[in-house]
Amino acid sequence: MYRTKNCGELRLSDVNQTVTLAGWVQRIRKMGGMTFVDLRDRYGITQLAFNQEINAPVFEEANRLGREYVIQAVGRVEERYSKNANMPTGDIEINVSELHVLNEAATPPFTIENDTDGGDDIRMKYRYLDLRRQCVRQNLELRHKMAFEVRRYLDEQGFLEVETPVLVNSTPEGARDFVVPSRMNPGQFYALPQSPQTLKQLLMVSGFDRYFQIVKCFRDEDLRADRQPEFTQIDCEMSFVEQEDVLNMFEGMSRHLFKVIKGIDLPKLPRMTWADAMKYYGSDKPDTRFDMRFVELMDVLQGHGFSVFDNAAYIGGICAKGAASYTRKQLDELTDFVRRPQIGAKGLVYARIEADGTVKSSVDKFYTQDVLQSLKQAMNAQPGDLILILSGDDANKTRKQLCELRLEMGSRLGLRDKNQYACLWVIDFPMYEWSDEENRLMAMHHPFTSPKPEDIPLLDTDPAAVRANAYDMVINGVEVGGGSIRIHDANLQQKVFEILGFTPEQAQQKFGFLMNAFKYGAPPHGGLAYGLDRFVSLFAGLDSIRDCIAFPKNNQGRDVMLGAPGVIDQIQLDELQLRVDLKK
Ligand code: AMO
Repeated sequence: MYRTKNCGELRLSDVNQTVTLAGWVQRIRKMGGMTFVDLRDRYGITQLAFNQEINAPVFEEANRLGREYVIQAVGRVEERYSKNANMPTGDIEINVSELHVLNEAATPPFTIENDTDGGDDIRMKYRYLDLRRQCVRQNLELRHKMAFEVRRYLDEQGFLEVETPVLVNSTPEGARDFVVPSRMNPGQFYALPQSPQTLKQLLMVSGFDRYFQIVKCFRDEDLRADRQPEFTQIDCEMSFVEQEDVLNMFEGMSRHLFKVIKGIDLPKLPRMTWADAMKYYGSDKPDTRFDMRFVELMDVLQGHGFSVFDNAAYIGGICAKGAASYTRKQLDELTDFVRRPQIGAKGLVYARIEADGTVKSSVDKFYTQDVLQSLKQAMNAQPGDLILILSGDDANKTRKQLCELRLEMGSRLGLRDKNQYACLWVIDFPMYEWSDEENRLMAMHHPFTSPKPEDIPLLDTDPAAVRANAYDMVINGVEVGGGSIRIHDANLQQKVFEILGFTPEQAQQKFGFLMNAFKYGAPPHGGLAYGLDRFVSLFAGLDSIRDCIAFPKNNQGRDVMLGAPGVIDQIQLDELQLRVDLKK
């Protein structure tokens, strides 16, 4: 038997037992006639003690160990002389009588500790060593637990987990596809699914009623902290439901996860329309851990001779509570922040509310104290507050800039505590959004999303104004999930395709399989998908979803450990009848 106990379980109550442990050497401390080794496995760390006087040969063997050697140790559990309250096993140590080296190890390129000396690149190259670190492993343990609880909850609600294929054709989630050449069908390609959207709808036509799948999805898009080219969805679909049924079911699932995993009782989730989210937060995924809502200031600030504001299409402000004491330097930093090319504002106007209630602004020469007092009132600002104002000639762009500023101020004022969770539903998304790039309306969610029944007449007259039965779950400013009620009527689906610019032939060619299926009795249905990686990283308080994925890709979409993507052999290319001819 390699071991009788693991490295995380021994306590004072085990003193005097003889045990066998196996694991990796984390650390060796030589102190004259005593050597201490921290032995690590998945479950924890246990201190091994080697005493020269008691057992000289084993003591010498211990002194020859190196970091990350794989060893087995037999010994007696003893109470420690100096205890370590920070470790669950910190009251005891093993007085080792037998030591076996199971495998030697080369010196690792970085320290295998939570506080490691390894940078990002090296840790990704040696991800299997990085995964030995407790803080990384914990994220994967959390991920397992969450996926397990999702399955438990959905199983209890009657959902069936059904696997859908990975080699499919293009699925319409709006990103680029990853493609796979087909050897047996030269010149033809599979696409990897961006989501199982159409397949889960077909399962509803098949009568599965309640489907889910924890499933890999693939999207070839620019990567960010919350995006990976392959990521995992908790993908769900239900039949004979309205929006309310779907929201209640998945609010329940989120409540279950918060309760079981975080010990938090989630209140009934607030709902915000997309229009309000954009108006008050400049984002369809508002971080509602803090207030600082936008106040539109056109009426208050236009027409007083300040040309920047007078010519603006939008002027909006936020009120930063207690920030009137911001120094010139801090305000300059904020101005630089909004001027960064990623944000693109031209400048920032500020107004401080002094202790006596007067308002001092950076544009004092254009505004009388009376106007500034109206500003204070409009912003509901108090003495000690700082008002920050942006303007621009494109209202939506300016709102996005103000959104960035709001988030930055939230961070600076410590209002974005990772242990605080603000969840909500954003509902009533528009059906379509205009794409300058494509010069046409695009589906905001995807083309199978149903319009709100009362907005259906607008499809003929003003499609851009049509709202959809679509919803997102947002937690702390992160879109963790989204879905919609689907169209189950072939004629309505046809019309929606038309507005998206598909000819009937193109629609038939791309989605004929789905529209044909709808002819055979499609039930009303709807669903949603959560991003598991995002959900886990929120629960773990991570800045990037990479840290809860065992083997993630870097920002160039590369797995630097595997060296993927890579070139393939000529033989493989020949079999596929492909020639690589890169345009220079
Ligand atoms: P959507 O495209 O909104 O909807 O995706 C659902 C959820 O998946 C997560 N997500 C991602 N996570 C990590 N990396 C990515 N690149 C990435 N892209 C998306 C997000 C998002 O909320 N078929 C529909 C769902 C439905 O209508 O039922 C869909 O895929 O958390």
